[in-house]
Amino acid sequence: MLVRLLYVSQPTGPITTTVTTLILEKSVAYNKKENITGVLCQGSDLWIQVLEGERSQVNVLYARIMADRNHKNIELLSMEEITHRQFGQWSMALVYLSKDDPMVKMAHPEFDPYSASAKDAISILDELLKTGSPIVSNAS
Ligand SMILES: Cc1cc2nc3c(=O)[nH]c(=O)nc-3n(C[C@H](O)[C@H](O)[C@H](O)COP(=O)(O)O)c2cc1C
Repeated sequence: MLVRLLYVSQPTGPITTTVTTLILEKSVAYNKKENITGVLCQGSDLWIQVLEGERSQVNVLYARIMADRNHKNIELLSMEEITHRQFGQWSMALVYLSKDDPMVKMAHPEFDPYSASAKDAISILDELLKTGSPIVSNAS
């Protein structure tokens, strides 16, 4: 059974390129092996991540991620059963969310992931992937 999980969190320290690169490297290796796909969105003081895959694999990964000291205030926004993957192309794509991004400002002036609906957050990630320049790690 396929599921899509969405959470938001805040980094415990500055998000340096080293931190991001390490997370991406680990994610690509692990997610490929476990057939997990998704997107990681990085803001100035937050991460939003979508994980898609078989339910038990997603649960195991989410538990690993929750135990990671690189972030805090990890809040599950949703976990839903899905029939197909929305972010199936990427083992983990990285996109940047800037509050000053004209697209985010115009389309979602009040966007606050901690209070946003999961549906809104996912559509923002989808738009960012289409309009931005994701750092892509292909699933295949
Ligand atoms: C915001 C964030 C997102 C992460 N996403 C993933 C991921 O998609 N896949 C993954 O394997 N690890 C991810 N990690 C890393 C895991 O939390 C954890 O550090 C890693 O799986 C541990 O690997 P290791 O035991 O081999 O060091 C993420 C970490 C953070 C902070």
